[in-house]
Amino acid sequence: MFLLLSCLLFPFADAVGWHGGVHLGYQTAALLRWKSSLRASPPALDSWRQGTSPCTGNWTGVACGVVHRGHRHPLAVTEISLSNAGIDGRLGELNFSALPFLTYVDLSYNSLREEIPSAIASLPVLSFLDLSVNWLHGNIPPELGNMPHLTQLGLTSNNLTGRIPASIGNLTMLGALSFGNNMLTGPIPEELGNLNKLMDLELSDNRLSAGIPVDLLNLTELNTLSLEMNELTGSIPHEIGLLHNLRLLVLFENQLSGTIPHILGNLTLLSDLDLHENQLVGSIPTEVGALLSGPLPQGFSNNFSHLIEINLGNNSLSGELPSDICKGGNLEQFEVSMNMFTGPFPKSLKTCRSLKLLSLGDNQITGDVSSLGPYPRLIKVDLDRNNFFGSLSKTWASSSNLTSIYMQKNMITGSLPPEFSSLEKLEKLIINDNNLSGKIPPELSNLVNLYTLDLSQNQFSGHIPPEFGQLGNLQYLNISANKLSGIIPQELGNCIKLISLALNHNSLSGDLPVTIGNLRSLQIVLDVSNNKLTGRLPAELGNLAQLELLNLSHNEFSGNIPPSIGSMNSLLTLDVSYNNLEGALPTGRLFRNASIRWFLHNKDLCGSLTGLPLCSSIPVMKHHNERIHNLGLAISIPMCIAIILLIAVIINTGTAGTRDVLSVWNFDGKFAFEDIAEATENFSDKYIIGSGGYGTVYKAQLQGGRLGGNLCAILKNEELSKELDWSKRVAIATDVAQAIYYLHQECNPPIIHRDITSKNILLDAAFKAYVSDFGIARMLKPDSSNWSELAGTYGYIAPELSYTSVVTTKCDVYSFGVVVLEIMMGMYPTELQSIASMGQRQELEIEDILDTRPSLPTIAEKKEIALLVEVTFACLQTAPQYRPEMQDVYQKLVMHKPHPFASPSHGFRLEEIREV
Ligand SMILES: *[C@@H]1O[C@H](CO)[C@@H](O)[C@H](O)[C@H]1NC(C)=O
Ligand SMILES: *[C@@H]1O[C@H](CO)[C@@H](O)[C@H](O)[C@H]1NC(C)=O
Ligand SMILES: *[C@@H]1O[C@H](CO)[C@@H](O)[C@H](O)[C@H]1NC(C)=O
Ligand SMILES: *[C@@H]1O[C@H](CO)[C@@H](O)[C@H](O)[C@H]1NC(C)=O
Ligand SMILES: *[C@@H]1O[C@H](CO)[C@@H](O)[C@H](O)[C@H]1NC(C)=O
Ligand SMILES: *[C@@H]1O[C@H](CO)[C@@H](O)[C@H](O)[C@H]1NC(C)=O
Ligand SMILES: *[C@@H]1O[C@H](CO)[C@@H](O)[C@H](O)[C@H]1NC(C)=O
Repeated sequence: MFLLLSCLLFPFADAVGWHGGVHLGYQTAALLRWKSSLRASPPALDSWRQGTSPCTGNWTGVACGVVHRGHRHPLAVTEISLSNAGIDGRLGELNFSALPFLTYVDLSYNSLREEIPSAIASLPVLSFLDLSVNWLHGNIPPELGNMPHLTQLGLTSNNLTGRIPASIGNLTMLGALSFGNNMLTGPIPEELGNLNKLMDLELSDNRLSAGIPVDLLNLTELNTLSLEMNELTGSIPHEIGLLHNLRLLVLFENQLSGTIPHILGNLTLLSDLDLHENQLVGSIPTEVGALLSGPLPQGFSNNFSHLIEINLGNNSLSGELPSDICKGGNLEQFEVSMNMFTGPFPKSLKTCRSLKLLSLGDNQITGDVSSLGPYPRLIKVDLDRNNFFGSLSKTWASSSNLTSIYMQKNMITGSLPPEFSSLEKLEKLIINDNNLSGKIPPELSNLVNLYTLDLSQNQFSGHIPPEFGQLGNLQYLNISANKLSGIIPQELGNCIKLISLALNHNSLSGDLPVTIGNLRSLQIVLDVSNNKLTGRLPAELGNLAQLELLNLSHNEFSGNIPPSIGSMNSLLTLDVSYNNLEGALPTGRLFRNASIRWFLHNKDLCGSLTGLPLCSSIPVMKHHNERIHNLGLAISIPMCIAIILLIAVIINTGTAGTRDVLSVWNFDGKFAFEDIAEATENFSDKYIIGSGGYGTVYKAQLQGGRLGGNLCAILKNEELSKELDWSKRVAIATDVAQAIYYLHQECNPPIIHRDITSKNILLDAAFKAYVSDFGIARMLKPDSSNWSELAGTYGYIAPELSYTSVVTTKCDVYSFGVVVLEIMMGMYPTELQSIASMGQRQELEIEDILDTRPSLPTIAEKKEIALLVEVTFACLQTAPQYRPEMQDVYQKLVMHKPHPFASPSHGFRLEEIREV
C-alpha cells in the first residue's frame, strides 16, 4: 500500500521533494493513518483520500504553504482547521513528528478523547492550538510550555484535571489563553505573570483556589480577565488598577472578600464588571460610579453600541447606589441584587434609556415605581423585595422587549394598567405581595407568551377574567389571597399547560368547573381552598394524574369525595377539611396513609381511618362531629380554624411537684384532637382560659405517657437516639417544618413562634413531632408590646436579633435550621457559625457531621438527608432575606422540589436559565 502511494505521488515529485527529512508523502500518510484511527469516518474527511495530495487535492480542513529550506521551497501541510467536523477519536494517533510544519491546529468542537498527547509539543512552529470543547481528560502536559511560537492556546470545555503547569508561563508569545470549564485545581501559577503579550486570560469555571497572584497584574496588555466560577479567595489586589487596558473583569462566583478597590476607577476602558456572588463588603467606590459615567473612551466609534455591564449581585455590599451610575448613557446591564444596599433609587437610572437588564432585588432600595423609565430596550426588571412604592404606570408598557417583571414584596399600590397587555414578549409577571387593587385586566389574556403570572397577596377584586382561557402557554397561575369574587370561569380549563394553579383565599363562589379536569399537566398544586365554593366535587378531578397537592379545604362543597380521586396516583396531599362532604372515603394508596387532618370538619365522612367513624357507625359519630363542627364555627376566626381547635394548655401531672405548662400545636389530629376534645369535654366553656386574636385557648389535663420526652432529651439518650433512625429524623424535621409553616402561612396575622428549640419539640411514642412552647402570653395578645421583648433561647436565636428587635418569620426559619442541624448531628452544633458557613459554601463533608449512632442511612435516606442539608444551610443564612420562607421549606421537604411561587427571582443574567 505504501508503495502504491509513493508511486502515485511520483508525478508531483519535483514540486514536493524532500525537505527536513519529512516528505509530503509522509505528512499525507500521517493524516490518512489518523483518519483511519477515528471511530467513524466523519463525512467531513471524505475528501481525504489515498492517492490524492492534501495540498493539491482539496482536502477539507487542510491547508499547505511553501516552506523555505535552503534553496528549496516545497509545499507542506501547515494548517489543520477542522472545528465541529464530527471527529471522534484520539489525538495521540496523529503522528506529530511527521507534521513539523504545522502552524495552525483547530480541532475544537469535536469528540477528541483521552489525554492531550505531550508529543504535540514537538510541533516546533505551531502558533495556534485550539482543542476546546472536546472530551479530553487528564492533566495539561507541562511540555506545552516548550512551544515558543504559540500565540493562542484554547483548551476550554474539556475534562482536564490537575494543576495548570508552571511551564505555561514560558509561552511568552501568547496573546490568548483559555482553559475555562474544566476541572483544574490548585492555584493560578504566578509564572503566568511572564506572559507579557497576553490580552485574553480565561480560566473560569474550574476549581482553582488560593488568591489572585499579584504577578498576573504585570500583564498590562490584558483586555479580558475571566476568573469566574472558581474557588479563589483573598481580596481583589489593589494592583488591578495597573491593568489599564482591561475592558472586561469577570470574577463572579468565587470567595473573594474585602472591598472593591477604588483603583478600579482608573480602568477607564472597563465596560464589563462582574463581581457577583463573592463575599465583598463595603460600598461601591465613587470612582467606579465615575467610571461608568465618564465619557466614551477614545478609539470607540460613536455608532459602536458599547456594551456596559455591571454585576455586583449577591455580595454583602451596602450603602447607597451611586446616583450618576448611568450618566454616560451606555449602561445596559445593572445588576446589584442580593446585597444590602439602602437609600434611594439612583437618579440617573430613572432615565437610563440604554438599560436592558435592571436587577436590584433583595436590597432595601426605596423608590416610586411610577417615576422609573421609560426604558425602551428593557428585557428584564427585578425589583423584588425592596421598598418600592407608587403605582405601576403605563410607561412600563412601552418597554416592548420586556420578558420578565419581578416586583414581588414591595409596597406598590394602584391598579394593574390594562396597557401591560401590549407587552407581547412578556413571559413572567410576578407582582405578588404588594397592595395592588382594582380589577384584573381581562386584556392580560393577550399576553400569549406569558407563562408565570403571580398576582397573589394583593387586594385585587372583581372576577377572574374568563378571557384567561386564552393564555395557552401559562404554566404557573397564582391569584390567591386577593378579594376576588364570582365564579371560577370554566374557560380556565383551556389553559392546558398549567402546572400550578392557586386560587385560594378569595371569595370565589359557585361550582368547581368540571373543565378543571382538562388541566392534565397540573403537577405542583391545585389550591382552591378558603373560598365559598359549593356543589359537588367533579369526578374529573381524577384526571389530574400528575397532581401532587390538592387543597379543596375551607369551602362549602357537598356530596361525596369522588371515588376517582382515589386513582390520582401522584397525589401526596389532599385537603378537603372544612366542607360539607359526606359518605365513604375513596379507596386507594393515598387514603391508606392519609392524615385525619385532611378530612376534619365535614358533614358525615366515614372510613377506616383512625379518627373517622367506620362507615357502619355513622349515627353515633354524627352527633359527635356536629358538636365539634358547631363549636368550631362558634369560636373560629376563619383563617386559622385548624389551629384554634388544637391549641390547648396541658398541665403535665406526671411528676408530683413539677407543673410544666405547655401549649401544644398539633397538626396530626389523631392524637391531640381526640385527647384534647376528651380532656376538655368537647371544648366546654369551663375549660377556656383565654381568647384573643387567634382563637380560644383551652386548658386540658392529659393523662401522662402520651408525650413521653423532648427532642433534645431523646438525642442525648444513647438508646433512643439509636432508635431514631434517619427516616424518623427526616420525618421529624418535616413535621416541625409543617407546624411552623402553618403558624406562618395559615394564620392571619402570622404567628411567629420565636422559640423553636429542640427542647420545645415534643415527640410521642411513635416519634411523631409536636411543636410546643412555654408560655402563651403572646398568643393571647399578639400585638401588645411584649412582642418586642427579647425572647428565645440562646444558640437558636437568629443573628439579626442581636442588632434589631424586629422579629420576623425568618427568625423562626433560622431556629428551625439550627434544630435540623441538631437532628442530623445528634447534638447541638456548638460550632454552628463555622459549620453553617462551610455548609453554605459546600465545603462540608456531610458524612463527617452526621450522627453515627443510628444505623447508616440507606440510599433513599441519603437522598432525603441531602435535601435536609440543602434546606438547613439555606435556613442558616446570616442575612434573613436569603433564608427561604417556611412554606418553601415545607414544600421542598414534602415534594422534593421548590414551590413554584417561592423561588427567589434575583440574580439573573441575560442568559438566565433559572425559571420560577
Ligand atoms: C478544488 O476546489 C475548487 C473549488 O471548490 C475546484 O474548483 C477545483 O476543481 C477542486 N480541485 C480538485 C483537484 O478537486
Ligand atoms: C512518524 O513519522 C516519522 C517521520 O515521518 C516517522 O519516522 C515515524 O516512524 C512515524 N511514527 C509512526 C509511529 O508511524
Ligand atoms: C467528564 O467528567 C464528568 C465528571 O467527572 C463525567 O461525568 C463525564 O462523564 C466526563 N466526560 C467525559 C467525556 O469523560
Ligand atoms: C521555562 O524555560 C526556561 C528556559 O527557557 C527553563 O529553564 C525552565 O525550566 C522553563 N520552565 C518551565 C517551568 O518549564
Ligand atoms: C511582576 O512584576 C514585578 C515588579 O515589576 C516583578 O518583581 C515580578 O517578578 C514580575 N512577575 C513576573 C511573573 O514577571
Ligand atoms: C490612578 O489614577 C489617578 C488619577 O488619574 C492617578 O493619580 C494614579 O496614579 C493612578 N493609579 C494607578 C495605579 O495607575
Ligand atoms: C427588541 O429586540 C429585538 C430582537 O432582539 C431587537 O432587534 C430590537 O432592536 C429590540 N428593540 C429595542 C427597542 O431595543
